[in-house]
Amino acid sequence: MELEDFAKPGSQEADLLKRIDKKRLPKHIAVIMDGNGRWAGLRKLPRVAGHRAGIESVRDIVESSARLGLEALTLYAFSVENWKRPRSEVRTLMNLLKEYVRLELSNVHKNNIRFQAIGRIQELEESVRTELQRAMNTTKDNTGMLLNVALNYSGRAEIVDTFNRMFREVKQNGHKAPVSEELISQFLYTSGIPDPDLLIRTSGEMRISNFLLWQIAYSEIYITPTFWPDFRRKHLLEAILEYQRRDRRYGGI
Ligand code: IPE
Ligand code: IPE
Ligand code: MG
Repeated sequence: MELEDFAKPGSQEADLLKRIDKKRLPKHIAVIMDGNGRWAGLRKLPRVAGHRAGIESVRDIVESSARLGLEALTLYAFSVENWKRPRSEVRTLMNLLKEYVRLELSNVHKNNIRFQAIGRIQELEESVRTELQRAMNTTKDNTGMLLNVALNYSGRAEIVDTFNRMFREVKQNGHKAPVSEELISQFLYTSGIPDPDLLIRTSGEMRISNFLLWQIAYSEIYITPTFWPDFRRKHLLEAILEYQRRDRRYGGI
């Protein structure tokens, strides 16, 4: 089924879809899924209700991105800094993550999506790692979109891990190649994945919050006031349309 089959004729999505140039889609979209707490606060609900509601957006955006034919979608789900939150909120986030992976695995697999978790996964509790491992193993041979979920992730921690992996390699194999941008890229968590063309942040915050520091060197940045639990296919299509209006110069003219 193509994305067109989703958009009812005459709907806003159908109109947006018509205006998008399918030959110039971003290959990789990265998303800072922010604003769950504020979404809940507006409704006088506990913050965790916002996280739960955000799962619906994850489902919709993952499926829409896969149907659009993106090569990769990277979702920032939990940062190294998020451990500062109350224990009960962290607990709920981990439980929701497990629930999402468990319930969505068959759907993800059916859509030919390859699932991957990036970040300091080894520091997560065992029950979470088990679910992630199952999802990665089940989908490892899929040839469609790569769904990268950033968990216990920090851009600086990734660079530290990259340096350590490179040093280890040199020690073991006496690798003498001079350090280059290509070599560093090969040791990042995102090795083999093109850098994000488009970085979306929901809920209006104008910062990067330690996300993909190396990889976003030339990403187009799109910040929307929409809170993550309200962000749906229509908003994704709007972001892509805006991306296609940008002139990517990479320092040239
Ligand atoms: C994003 O929503 C979810 C995570 C960071 C896990 P927030 O929980 O940060 O929501 P706000 O920013 O407080 O509204
Ligand atoms: C960024 O959101 C992290 C994730 C979306 C997982 P935060 O809500 O943690 O970022 P800050 O604290 O506003 O920078
Ligand atoms: Mg936030």
